[in-house]
Amino acid sequence: MSDIDLSSESYEKNREAGRILAQVRDEAADKVDVGVTHLEVAEFAENRIRELGGEPAFPVNISIDEEAAHATPKIGDESVFGEEMINLDIGVHVDGWLADTAITVDLSGHTELKEAPEQALEAALELVEPGVSTGELGAEIEDVITSYGFNPVVNLTGHGLEHWQQHTQPTIPNRAVSTGVELEVGDVVAIEPFATDGSGKVREGSKEEIFALEHERPIRNRQAREALDQITEEFRTLPFAIRWLDTDRAEMALRRLKRNGIVHGYPVLKEADGHLVSQKEHTIIVTEDGCEITTA
Ligand code: CO
Repeated sequence: MSDIDLSSESYEKNREAGRILAQVRDEAADKVDVGVTHLEVAEFAENRIRELGGEPAFPVNISIDEEAAHATPKIGDESVFGEEMINLDIGVHVDGWLADTAITVDLSGHTELKEAPEQALEAALELVEPGVSTGELGAEIEDVITSYGFNPVVNLTGHGLEHWQQHTQPTIPNRAVSTGVELEVGDVVAIEPFATDGSGKVREGSKEEIFALEHERPIRNRQAREALDQITEEFRTLPFAIRWLDTDRAEMALRRLKRNGIVHGYPVLKEADGHLVSQKEHTIIVTEDGCEITTA
């Protein structure tokens, strides 16, 4: 037996973040429909998280068709959903303790592609217990997705979640690897299979709407300084959207912070050949005899 106390306050906050997130994910998914704007769904989810007592851990990611991650509406965005494959990836924190979940809403008629990562995640979760290798989980995910005739996206992975840190070790691969590490009791990890009817790689696009603090240093410009104050107080090291900034001329302030190496961006990731991408993600706590899904 390990001496990790899974009833401690930090794990309780992970669970609270997960409960809020599960509810908001389902409510947000229900709002996605042809003709509804991306901004409406993103703002609904982010406001609902706050109403329920959490904070968004990162901007709601709304990825369409070949987009896999890191897309979020810009200020005044008027984009609307069409008959598309839509991935919603949402995060919540309670005092910096995190939960991360994703779901595909398919309005494009690709039922099997939507189903493949769901089944892959379910199969991987059944294997989780102390001592399981992340490589075994990746092999299981790959097996299930290829059994549908699709490919896993191999350069996106699940990840550990630590206090105020949304992407830490261990990495949970979406394919078999020989370099896995063993999960331990008390690990908080997000497992997130991505499937595609393309070749299985994503590359960086040119759009960038999500940023995070890189290196704090003084900046003279007033709007940039205001933005930096908000970032260090409110978001700390967690990702944020330009539309979250309160300063006037937020777009310009942000570009200035980036030029000065104070923040870095997360370019939108797209399937390399323009094929569809589907996704499913849960956050878990590894327990003595398996795992607890905080975002169920
Ligand atoms: Co994640």
